[in-house]
Amino acid sequence: MNIYDRLTHELGSSRVLRDEDRLDSYARDESLLGAFPPDAAVLCDTAEHVQLVLRLAAEHKVPVTPRGAGTGKTGGALAVRGGIVLSTERMKSIKSIDAGDLTATIEPGVITGDLQAAVEAEGLFYAPDPASLSMCSMGGNVAANAGGPRAFKYGVTRDWTLGLDVVLAGGEAMFMGRRTQKGVTGYDLVGAFVGSEGTFGVATQITVKLVGKPEATGLLLAVMPNAVVAGKAINALLRQGARPRAVELLDRVTLEHIRPHAPYKLPANAGAAVLIELDGDADTVAAQLERHGELFESFEAEDVLVARDDQDRERIWQTRRMASRSLTAAFKFKLSEDIVVPLSKIPEAFERLYAVGGKHGVQMAAYGHAGDGNLHVNVLSNEDASDPAVRARIDAAIDDVFRETLAMGGTLSGEHGIGIAKSRYMPWEQAPGVIALQKRLKLAFDPAGLMNPGKIFPDG
Ligand code: MLT
Ligand code: ZN
Repeated sequence: MNIYDRLTHELGSSRVLRDEDRLDSYARDESLLGAFPPDAAVLCDTAEHVQLVLRLAAEHKVPVTPRGAGTGKTGGALAVRGGIVLSTERMKSIKSIDAGDLTATIEPGVITGDLQAAVEAEGLFYAPDPASLSMCSMGGNVAANAGGPRAFKYGVTRDWTLGLDVVLAGGEAMFMGRRTQKGVTGYDLVGAFVGSEGTFGVATQITVKLVGKPEATGLLLAVMPNAVVAGKAINALLRQGARPRAVELLDRVTLEHIRPHAPYKLPANAGAAVLIELDGDADTVAAQLERHGELFESFEAEDVLVARDDQDRERIWQTRRMASRSLTAAFKFKLSEDIVVPLSKIPEAFERLYAVGGKHGVQMAAYGHAGDGNLHVNVLSNEDASDPAVRARIDAAIDDVFRETLAMGGTLSGEHGIGIAKSRYMPWEQAPGVIALQKRLKLAFDPAGLMNPGKIFPDG
């Protein structure tokens, strides 16, 4: 019996999808890199199902591409070598929220926003907040080491993941890491697994840490003349040692395309906007909002608006989270990168990126987690990207984005990972020995190379 008949026999046809129509939604993700239909998509309900799939895949030497909610931006969930897409979308249970230990244990299909709502209902807080939090799942967040605006103060998924139940290639199941807040026993395998983009195995349960829900939260929006000045103001804010929980920047082109859809009425003709969110006790938040507002005013802010209440604050965040979708809707071609530059280079990064756009005749928009130096640089075009001459200009612009980033001492990816979108740039940033060491680590987890092949490294 071939592997697909065997899986259907063991798991039932409702869990093993094989017809073209049903496979279509497992062929794409949000990278917009095209369709890669797998031979089958297997919808697992339990860790035992995951074990069975990985055991049979090893026996039959079939590649497996793990998939969360398919919101990834770099093609990490695309089955570029065919075989099986292993979906964890049905594993949606929040197993426990422990207010005493300040931990939660969840299955990988739990939507990140649902976890946040569940812990907040108990007066607790889980910080990582990718823009797709209403759709993305915790398994995908672990695979990509997802970040978000609040990473500025609270760090990324890796900083919140204490322990993982995983299934490795071949079907071996184990718990790695810890359930305590602190611990340095052995190598940091959890740290390596988080961000491994599905190339090490499949997490079937995730134990995260929690903190108490902050007493008060405040948000200010500074309307700035342009992104370069906004970047300088952010540098000044960081030099003061300010610790807001988010420091976001949106440039003029981004604002222009969000504005028509936005639930929050963005000021007309803004050259850039900076969002600063603070949390803590109410008095400190109020005092710091005022102080930060004054700083932006001293940097030519045209206006400094403060969210009136939580609804207003949420409307502003919903507006910010629309950046990616608004640009996708407005342009025939859109590629969103997630470069990081050293903090002192934030203003210069905008200058260099706009110059790249001008040089290659493409539109540039940039926004994102500026307080971390993490910018979503969008290469945009309304020309026909299937025309080879147009495509060559777009590709040259993308190459230059990375060239400029690395020349400033930056890194290729701050939160979306490498996948297939950026794999060819890995040797631009990392020395051959560093890449070779990572490949040896991969082989320790997956000796036969069946887990999500074709990702991260130029030769897969
Ligand atoms: C964001 O911050 O909006 C997301 O990471 C997605 C993106 O814009 O590329
Ligand atoms: Zn982001």
